[in-house]
This record gives sequence, C-alpha cells and structure tokens, in this order.
Amino acid sequence: MLKQTLIKATEAAGKIIQHYYGTHFQISNKEGVNNLVTEADHAAEKEIMEIIRSEFPDHYILSEESGSMPTGSRYKWIIDPLDGTVNFAHKLPLCCVSIGIEEDGMMIMGAVYNPFFNEFYFAQRGYGASLNDRQIRVSDETEVQKACLVTGFPYTYLDQPNGPLEVFGRLIRKGVPVRRLGSAAMDLCWVAAGRFDGFFEHKLNAWDSAAGYLIVEEAGGRVSDFSGTAYSPYQPSIAATNGKIHDELLKWIDGSITCNA
Ligand code: IPD
Ligand code: CA
Ligand code: CA
Repeated sequence: MLKQTLIKATEAAGKIIQHYYGTHFQISNKEGVNNLVTEADHAAEKEIMEIIRSEFPDHYILSEESGSMPTGSRYKWIIDPLDGTVNFAHKLPLCCVSIGIEEDGMMIMGAVYNPFFNEFYFAQRGYGASLNDRQIRVSDETEVQKACLVTGFPYTYLDQPNGPLEVFGRLIRKGVPVRRLGSAAMDLCWVAAGRFDGFFEHKLNAWDSAAGYLIVEEAGGRVSDFSGTAYSPYQPSIAATNGKIHDELLKWIDGSITCNA
C-alpha cells in the first residue's frame, strides 16, 4: 500500500509539473539569489499531500514548501515536489519530483520521476533500485581521474575554504569532468544508473536527497557525508558514488590529495 501510494503521488505530481512546463506561471524568490519557487512547485506539493493524506492521514510529512508537519507516526514522507526549479523555470527539462519514506527513522522507499525524459526511478530498502521497472546498477570506474562526476552549488554558500568552488576548481584543473545539472535528485539517480561515477554537494536539504540516496545505495553505490560517515539527510554534505571511487573522492574534497600522480 505504501508503495502504491508513493508511486501514485510521484506520478501525479510529475503530470502537474509537465502541465505547467513552458506556460506563464507565477515565480517568486526565496532566500538567496535565484532561489525560485513557482506555481508548479505549490500545485505539485498540494497534490502529493492530498494523495498521502487520503491513504495515510496520520503520517508525518516534511515537504519543502510547506515545512515539517509532525504527527508522532512511525512513517515520515520527505517531499521535494519539484527538484530543479531553476531549470524548470527556464524550460530546461532537467527536473523531477522526489519523495522518500522513512519508517522509524530509516529510509525504506524512494521514488524520483522526471516526466520529460519519462524516467521513473524507484528503490525499496533491500530490494534493489530500478529505472522504469528495470534494475539499475552503479558504474565500475575505480579512479577519480578517469571518472565523470556531477556536483551542485547551493544558493547561499560558495566561497569557504574547501567550499563548492574550491573543490570544483581542484577537480577541473586536473581535467576531471565535473558536470552541474541543477537537480540533486537527478544527479543521484544518474549515479545509480551508472551514468555518473560520483556526485558530491556541500549543502543539501533532506528533501533534495531523501529518495535519491536510497536509490544510489540500492543500486550498489555508497553514500556518506564528507567525513565518510554513513549518510543522514539531516546534515548538509553528501558524497554518493559507485563505491569504488568513494574514499579517493573524499580526499579530493577535503584537499588531502589534489592529484593521484
Ligand atoms: C536545488 C537543486 C540543486 C541543488 C540545490 C537545491 P530546488 O533544489 O537540487 O541541484 O544544487 O542545492 O536546492 O530548489 O530546485 O528544489
Ligand atoms: Ca530540491
Ligand atoms: Ca524543490
């Protein structure tokens, strides 16, 4: 039942963002520069919450635009109704709906849907990860310098020592391809699908990563914070890789290696 409701809510929100895409919707700014929220974010969130509440009225919901709505339930839905809003607002179809479910504090299920690419990612703890019902696995790359990476930049934190720009510069100066797509949930799913070997970002919120991190782990990858500790979506940093480049990537991030020559 949880799984059906998760799929139903994710698909319904995907249809809503598709409906608004390219139209003249309202856009407003949140904290930071170009941190946008649109009518589509709100409409998708409303639909997701209605679907969850019709089946599970007592469940705890944490959703980006509406905040935290605790109930004391063992189940918590962590929702990003539209991840990649800046892309969406510029008619770039790199955006998606992302919903994770925790049971007693452990992420047990996640779904990410990009309706523009018709890509539906799903994972259930212990049962693997899939893209449109076909099982996916992370890549086999073993060296950071041969890897294709992806990162993201937060709206309000960039220039600190070992911050996003410094780490990005360190890698690209050594010729490592590092892409920036603008949707953390897509970044994670594309690591899970073996398209990227690794993803890192300094400052995410729980709704950005809740579903995607489980999808990476269930596709055979490793997810941690920048110190290498098992990942929690309630702290900011994330490194998500195929596992094989993980320890090396953490050293590139903390500056203890700048090349492996
Ligand atoms: C953002 C995207 C982006 C990441 C930002 C997030 P939003 O989410 O995931 O890739 O770099 O930190 O806030 O605002 O589009 O839902
Ligand atoms: Ca997001
Ligand atoms: Ca969002």
